[in-house]
Amino acid sequence: MKGVVLAGGLGTRLLPLTKITNKHLLPIFDKPMIYYPLQTLINAGIEDIMVVTGGNNAGDFLRLLGNGKQFGLKDISYTYQEGEGGIAEALDLARNFADGEKILIVLGDNIIEKNIIKEKKEFEKQKEGAKILIKKVPHPSSFGVPELEGNKVIGIEEKPENPKTDHAVIGIYMYDSRVFDIIKTLERSDRGELEITDVNNAYIKDGTMTCSVLDGWWIDAGSSPENLAKATQLVIKTGANNLT
Ligand code: G1P
Repeated sequence: MKGVVLAGGLGTRLLPLTKITNKHLLPIFDKPMIYYPLQTLINAGIEDIMVVTGGNNAGDFLRLLGNGKQFGLKDISYTYQEGEGGIAEALDLARNFADGEKILIVLGDNIIEKNIIKEKKEFEKQKEGAKILIKKVPHPSSFGVPELEGNKVIGIEEKPENPKTDHAVIGIYMYDSRVFDIIKTLERSDRGELEITDVNNAYIKDGTMTCSVLDGWWIDAGSSPENLAKATQLVIKTGANNLT
């Protein structure tokens, strides 16, 4: 199974911090943000990793992460997303890299406290389809919100005004190789993006989506200045991903 960190976009929700750099390079306590999702993949046992970046500071990722040796990796692959076409569009750039294997995607601003190796192993055994992770949150309408029947997810709404549950779909996704065929069928949303929620709903529709509740805390550090600050506080308090 291969891993992809999505670290593109313009980070407009964090302006002016992102005027001269990519949000995934901003500090979370004593490390650049992207270290955390990268470590999430490594801790899950993934060794083959691609970073999808974008914007005006793409070269800085190469200077920061190099060939991955400092993380114990043999190599890191990089690619570049033009503009802000959404998570699914960024993921599509990893098509050749994935080369028919299952993939584990982590959004570059999503930080978790613990390890997802158990969920990754479950997905390795899963014959086909996709797997998402969900977490109870105080303000679900800022996220993709799952509709649940027991522990089965029967639909996801992107940032709904009236959320059907108090859970968010977190930015860690596992897909089989069909994901790239699904992306081909997507249409742009009102915000002009190819939505990852539409990808997930396609898997739900064909009955091959599984779902687990994440253990430990999760934060979408790039979604607001408040969450950026909160992420640092959480990392100081408990550490994250063994990055203490
Ligand atoms: C994205 C997804 C959303 C998900 C969130 C997790 O939102 O569209 O479904 O809950 O990441 O971080 P965005 O950060 O692009 O607004």
